[in-house]
Amino acid sequence: MENRSQWGTRLGFLLAAVGSAIGLGNIWRFPATAFENGGGAFFIPYLFALLTAGIPLLIMEYTIGHKYRSSSPRSFSKISKGMEWIGWWQVLISFVISTYYPIIIAWAMMYAYFSLGTKWGDDPTAFFTGDFLNLADPGTFGSIVPNVMIPLLVVWVLVLFILGRGVKKGIEIANRIFIPTLFIVFLIIVIRAVTLPGAMEGLDAFFKPDWNKIADGSVWVAAYGQIFFSLSIAFAIMITYSSYLPKKSDITNNAFITGFANSSFELLAGIGVFAVLGFMAVQSGTGVAEVVEGGVGLAFMVFPEIISQMPAASFFGFLFFASLFLAGLSSMVSISETYIAGVQEKFSISRGKAVLFGGGLSLIASLFYATQGGLNLLDTVDYFINNYGVALAGLFEVVAIAWFARSLQDLQSHADAVSDIKLGIWWRICLGIITPIVLGYMMLQNLKTDLT
Ligand code: PFF
Ligand code: NA
Repeated sequence: MENRSQWGTRLGFLLAAVGSAIGLGNIWRFPATAFENGGGAFFIPYLFALLTAGIPLLIMEYTIGHKYRSSSPRSFSKISKGMEWIGWWQVLISFVISTYYPIIIAWAMMYAYFSLGTKWGDDPTAFFTGDFLNLADPGTFGSIVPNVMIPLLVVWVLVLFILGRGVKKGIEIANRIFIPTLFIVFLIIVIRAVTLPGAMEGLDAFFKPDWNKIADGSVWVAAYGQIFFSLSIAFAIMITYSSYLPKKSDITNNAFITGFANSSFELLAGIGVFAVLGFMAVQSGTGVAEVVEGGVGLAFMVFPEIISQMPAASFFGFLFFASLFLAGLSSMVSISETYIAGVQEKFSISRGKAVLFGGGLSLIASLFYATQGGLNLLDTVDYFINNYGVALAGLFEVVAIAWFARSLQDLQSHADAVSDIKLGIWWRICLGIITPIVLGYMMLQNLKTDLT
């Protein structure tokens, strides 16, 4: 594999890594999670999770990719033959996500278009579940929803086109365009949001610390969960992306930059979302807490309603959904690259064939969610993937590396040799002890709530 693809520049790698990290998790998951888990007080467990697990794991994944210069499965098999399956497990999780993620990107694309005439009218909830997706109809797996099918195929054409052009000419160029655009567009939205009447009420509600919550174990689980998901850790993504780094690139520094860029964007989104929620609360004469929501509901029901009440509704609606679209697309490209790289190496085929085969398989699977029955299942699949699939992938990964292969010391030397910031014993403690305990505890907590 001597002529392995490489990023053109360090910035190109960083933009791609940040592009993977910044996604729907920042825009609709973080604000609601922080609010429900202590508001301003949440920042303490959150920062703790970032520094003890997020960035240390990112450093580990970057080092693995950089050292072994292979996709996740092959990297693990180079560490120890028996560990290849851990890489495949991660790839499988990413593959499953890549079958439903494009559906949400397709919705965002449609909503950017609908914004131009605020087509959802004055009842966005009914529009989303009724006219647009027709969710009220439990339907069958055979009944196709045309409003989803066509945009979905458009998204796939874009994704496969970017991936097909390769690492430097496809992924890097796409992120060079998407990520700066995303930052600018999002900044415009946030500035508009904080100058709306009621914005300050929203921000007050968001930042008001509830210190009692810090003693609550579930708040810490939420903080770690947010950090893992948000940094795209244990999805095979960061290993794959760092395998395209030139031999002489800094690792630790890049991990810190990725971590802080992602968290800054998260904070920015929290400010924007809560300013807008404050506006809505004041308009409707209720409290902010009554209107807080996250996820699909926030983006496709609450936001359209608020946007309709704002001056220049079409313009801001378009910008908002365009940023969801860009954030989602860059994450989608990164998830798909994991199995494309995995398959390409495993079967020694060309990139083009791997894109057609891997992407094609995911495309076919994604059509399932364009049927009535599939749409109704999307939430459930997402829940299990995030609460069990990823947590397990992270747990397997750290336990295998730190305890079975005992390769932390080895990886540390590798990272230190190319990085400005040197790793100390704290790094090995974070990965060998803190992270496995937290992930194990997280799994048990999730099991407990699901079984009762
Ligand atoms: N890190 C992304 C976010 O915070 O939205 C989400 C994500 C991207 C999750 C890619 C999983 C993934 F494979
Ligand atoms: Na993120």
